[in-house]
Amino acid sequence: MKRQASERAVEHVESGFVIGLGSGTTAALAIRLIGARLKAGELRDVLGVPTSLQAAQEAISSGIPLTTLDEHPELDLLIDGADQIDHELRAIKGGGGALLREKVVASSSRLVIVVADETKLTERLGVDCPVPVEVHPFAVRPVYMRLLKMGAKPRIRTGTGKLGPVVTDNGNLIIDVSFDEVSDPRRLEWSLKAIPGVLETGLFIDLIDLAYIGTQEGVRRLEGSVKGNLLG
Ligand code: A5P
Repeated sequence: MKRQASERAVEHVESGFVIGLGSGTTAALAIRLIGARLKAGELRDVLGVPTSLQAAQEAISSGIPLTTLDEHPELDLLIDGADQIDHELRAIKGGGGALLREKVVASSSRLVIVVADETKLTERLGVDCPVPVEVHPFAVRPVYMRLLKMGAKPRIRTGTGKLGPVVTDNGNLIIDVSFDEVSDPRRLEWSLKAIPGVLETGLFIDLIDLAYIGTQEGVRRLEGSVKGNLLG
């Protein structure tokens, strides 16, 4: 299902494109497919901006030359995964801890495509899916306390293969914040971003144009109506 969704998204890539490379297992499939199309000569002159060290490594082993937002601040396309997405194309991302770079790259891309399997599609955003919040290490305790006072259930993310908290590619920590329900995602985004020390949240609202959802019955295409990224 993930692969079929990725195949549909990769059809949007054209020669000469500068593309954002998403993070996670589904986005990795898209990266490999783009690499295969480059190797086969179906595509040429494609450059990628990775949203994480994982995406960079996938791109290097797939033969996709890398660039940066400094060199290419406006991208043609981003293909990325999601932890949860609703029918209005509002998503929660950051399960892999790459939310900050993913959101910067999404807001710098003319077209943002999410690829996911059907388990990610939800009627109610935030139910059984915490919202990851990237926090500067200096502020982690006060932010944690503020989240408790908001009535949320915060949990500082810890990893495997290393003791202690997960440190993001940007040197920050992640607090996974559970809510009973996210009834107004935009309002929640504002409330979280207003806490000093919060650098980014995993709520993606008005950023996603298109989603390909792999299902048992084939790939569903969901299209958004609002675009809120930097490029209009
Ligand atoms: C990374 O931080 C996330 O936003 C990923 O895009 C998300 O976790 C999806 O990953 P999978 O495709 O592996 O489910």
